[in-house]
Parts: sequence; C-alpha cells; structure tokens
Amino acid sequence: MKGKLLYEGKAKRVYQADGQPGKLVLAYKNDVTAFNGEKKDMLPGKADLNNAISSHIFHELNDRGIRTHFIEKVSATEQLVHASEIIPLEVVVRNIAAGSIAKRLGIQAGTPLTPSIIELFYKNDDLNDPLINDDHALFLSDVTQPELNDIKTQALEINRQLIKLFTDVGIELVDFKLEFGRLSDGSVVLSDEISPDTCRLWDIQTRENLDKDVFRNGTGNLLEVYEKLMTRLEEAR
Ligand code: C5P
Repeated sequence: MKGKLLYEGKAKRVYQADGQPGKLVLAYKNDVTAFNGEKKDMLPGKADLNNAISSHIFHELNDRGIRTHFIEKVSATEQLVHASEIIPLEVVVRNIAAGSIAKRLGIQAGTPLTPSIIELFYKNDDLNDPLINDDHALFLSDVTQPELNDIKTQALEINRQLIKLFTDVGIELVDFKLEFGRLSDGSVVLSDEISPDTCRLWDIQTRENLDKDVFRNGTGNLLEVYEKLMTRLEEAR
C-alpha cells in the first residue's frame, strides 16, 4: 500500500500510495509535541486514536459536502488521501477565547467570540509560525486573493459543520487549526488532519479539556482523554 516516504512531520509521515498515482498515505505517529516541539513524548496508541478521530471527522465533512483530501481510513494508523500541495498557512478559527489569542489580546479565556474570528499563521517552524495578515499571506504563499477568500469561506462552513458534530456529543468547539492544499486540478481543498491535537474541545457541562491542552498543561492523561472523545463521537453515529 505504502510507496516512497515523501515527508516526515512532527505527527505524521507522508508516503506515495503504491500503484495509485495522485494519492498519498498519511501514517500517524505516536509522538506528541507542544510549544513547537519543545515539549515532547511518545505515547503508544496515540497514532491509532488520531487516525480514527481525524478519519471520522473528515468522513463526516465529506458527507456534508465539504471538499477535502480524505478518501478513506486504510489501517489502524493510516489513511489514503488525494495528493495536494500544502499551502503554508495555518488557518485558525476561534469561537471562544483561549490559548494564544487570550494572551496576545488580553481577552479572558472562555469569552465567546461572536462572530467567530479567523486568524492566519505562517507555517514555518523556524519562525515559530507567526501570526500574519492577508497581505503577508499573498506575499509568502502562492495563494491569490480569491483563493484566500475561498479558504476563509470554507473555514467558516467547516466551523459550522464541526460545531454541529461536536454539539451533538456535548462538546464545545473552542478553536481549531486547518490546513489547505491544492489538488492537481488547481482546486484548494481541506487537507492535513482535524483531531484533538489541532482543536480545543471542552465538555459543555464540565468544561473539562478533551484535547491536547491536557498534555500542554500537564493536567491529564492524553490517551484516556482522546479515547473518551473517540467513544463519544462513535456513540453519535
Ligand atoms: O495556540 P493557539 O491558541 O494559537 O492555537 C489555536 C488552535 O490551533 C488550537 O486548537 C491549537 O491546537 C491549534 N494549533 C495547531 N497547530 C499549531 C498551532 C495551533 O493545531 N501549530
């Protein structure tokens, strides 16, 4: 199934899909990192959970008419996707203040952000993924203004769909990060992963974190929390 290794990131490896031109295999790793790799650990079982959760979410998004790179989950830790050229932007959507926006703008964590706020970060580890505006994005990546507008429209629609998906299982979608990629036909679609590594998710009733903040802040057992999240998503099927 897997061909040549094309790229290794902090959380995934990307392989050519053997005998399937235009398709890739994403293989999740057990590594967990935070603060741009400053804090790290290896948690056997994490790859399976991230793959299961991200596959579940992308499957739901595909069903709800969002264009994504996702084709199917092909093993416990791997998924088959359409090859896309990743645009070096991290598109963050925020519904509730938490994390960097709370610190940067002095907003009390937990404050609702209505309408939702979209932020762009330049995907560059050496620079620590700095916050950028549209003009920077046009300069730094090869996106055009219409594509950037389309990315933001897609991000807000994805936000609406994810809010429904998580609200149904009693979870509040605080914020999340998206990445987009360009397919061979030039269209820009949702790529990468959506998982508790890339979202902040709070239990609506208890406000308990069901995401990587438990690792970032050392407040809980990441595997137990991710398993709880997966079980809740599966029960809603
Ligand atoms: O750290 P910050 O508050 O800006 O993060 C916003 C959201 O984006 C969080 O859900 C976080 O998990 C996600 N994120 C990510 N990858 C990054 C930076 C942030 O998935 N490199």
